Amino acid sequence: MAVNVTRREHPGEAGFVAERIRDRRTDDSASERRALVAGLLSAPASIAPKYFYDARGVRLFDAICELPEYYPTRTEAAIFARYREDIAAAAGNDREFVDLGAGDCAKAAQWFPFVMPWRYVGVDIAPDALVPALSRLAATYPAIDVCGVLTDFTHGLELGRDLSGDAATFFYPGSSIGNFTPIEAARFLHAIRRHCRRDGSGVLIGVDTKKDRARLEAAYDDAAGVTAAFNRNALAHVNRVLGTRFAPDAFAHVAFYNERDSRIEMHLEARTAQTIVVDGIARTFAAGERIHTENSYKYAPDEFTAMLERAGFAHVQCWQDDAGDFAVYYGA
Ligand code: AVJ
Repeated sequence: MAVNVTRREHPGEAGFVAERIRDRRTDDSASERRALVAGLLSAPASIAPKYFYDARGVRLFDAICELPEYYPTRTEAAIFARYREDIAAAAGNDREFVDLGAGDCAKAAQWFPFVMPWRYVGVDIAPDALVPALSRLAATYPAIDVCGVLTDFTHGLELGRDLSGDAATFFYPGSSIGNFTPIEAARFLHAIRRHCRRDGSGVLIGVDTKKDRARLEAAYDDAAGVTAAFNRNALAHVNRVLGTRFAPDAFAHVAFYNERDSRIEMHLEARTAQTIVVDGIARTFAAGERIHTENSYKYAPDEFTAMLERAGFAHVQCWQDDAGDFAVYYGA
């Protein structure tokens, strides 16, 4: 089953890539560009949250995770650490472990000693962190068949060809699901469920909870201004993609809890009137006009449990910290 990448004397990254990583990315840069232009020319304007994550944005997000105000990452880690054995017992041993948005595979790797997967599939849109991480994991865990898939699964989860067909644990931590609307999130959970063909398959997912406005808003508008820099960085990224001349500092970071829709919204608000040429079209932003950059939905545990059940998952279990700041679910 496992190709013995690790038995070679020097498992170079290039060889590893060729043998173990499937590149399922489609070059839809033209349509992505069109969608970005359309978002900027719309009223209200918007930029998709994926534009946060260029190299600088990834570093800023890592810094956000260390902020005192940003509780999700450390609270999820504490829940994982505290309930590691219970969660591992629910997910089971010797599964195929599918890591959705693997990044540097660090969160998933913490589970390896507890769930002992026979195969690990790290899935991510970007190879930069994934490829070296997979190479290291393969060397550390010669018994695990370590593979990668490069794809933007937010456009639809299509992993059939890349999975073994055996029982699989789908790992989706970090409340990444919060960037989807509830309808998109439900659709995504259904897509995961359709990949759970065998008994013993299931989803292990971390989701942020609703809580008081002050704490939510502080988490997305920290005192050190890291989240503000992260938000503005989307404009620098857009400038590179579209050749626009947004001045990131000409926009103020705005983050608030929209209680009706149970979501944090992030926006960039024009400090003064300004005109930006977008794809040859002059787009004027009035002073105070906003560009919507992110929604981060929050779910009460009973709501998210019901969503998992509607998607076809049974025996949903939920683990939380004592304050109920975050929730981890396993559904089979
Ligand atoms: C990566 C989508 C889970 O919504 O909390 C953090 C992104 N935005 N601070 C979140 C984010 C601003 C984060 N997710």
